[in-house]
Amino acid sequence: GKVILNGEMMERSEAVIDMEDRGYQFGDGVYEVIRVYDGNLFTGEEHIERLFASAGKIKLDIPFSRDKVLSLARQLVKENGVKLGTVYMQVTRGTASRSHIFPDPSRTKGVFSAYTTEAPRPEKALENGVAAITEDDIRWLRCDIKSLNLLPNVLAKQEASGQGCYEAILHRSGTITEGSSSNVYIVKDGTVITHPATNLILNGITRQVTLKLCAENNIPFSEKEYSLEELRQADEVFLTSTTSEIMPIVKVDGRQVGEGIPGPVTRKLQLLFQEELN
Ligand code: PDD
Repeated sequence: GKVILNGEMMERSEAVIDMEDRGYQFGDGVYEVIRVYDGNLFTGEEHIERLFASAGKIKLDIPFSRDKVLSLARQLVKENGVKLGTVYMQVTRGTASRSHIFPDPSRTKGVFSAYTTEAPRPEKALENGVAAITEDDIRWLRCDIKSLNLLPNVLAKQEASGQGCYEAILHRSGTITEGSSSNVYIVKDGTVITHPATNLILNGITRQVTLKLCAENNIPFSEKEYSLEELRQADEVFLTSTTSEIMPIVKVDGRQVGEGIPGPVTRKLQLLFQEELN
């Protein structure tokens, strides 16, 4: 299929990234994953806004306007004929001889790249729920930035996968922050609880949609810290992300959550989310 490198659409096999791209060497860049449903970007503007916000937080100048990035993403989806899938896009601080110090921005432009995937909805998992483990959150203190540096996330997810689980739920000294690639929620006595959008989590676009759905449908919710112990005692647990949507978690560290099946509040939110897609 086709990809975009800087402003240009080209065959993937023709796209060249330099050995000294700062994304490749330092993870010096930011990224987004946007869902495509029925050939359309879902919450595309919000993702692109966050891409620019992440870039700003690391003093990275994206060499295109928001509108240009949006239209490039749309063109790519159309060109590749993607109906159900994703657009991945990233921006790195560009190519310059290796030094930790930023290259001169008047000579080195950020490198923007994007490609698409075909990706079905995880229907079985959405229906039955998934298992998770808990892991220490060993990441840095700017998890609000969607940075290319994902090594702690990769290690946590690999640990989960090795134990036959879908996600690793991260905690800092017993306070649940989020998942390795998702936001995490508990439901207690009918109230949805999730970590506030501080520097310790990524404020997921799906998280924002989920909380909006709670607000619009009189589902009580609270953005506040909760503990590993509260996770263990929760009536329901679920996670959200672009690719996982609203995913029930029915087992944590080998123990059942509630009855061990997706709970009513999670089910209700899944239905409401589904309606957002139509
Ligand atoms: N992950 N928290 C982390 C650490 C994430 O990496 C993600 C997204 C989320 C959920 O954000 P959103 O709802 O905007 O997708 C939360 C993407 C999908 C990924 O890296 O594949």
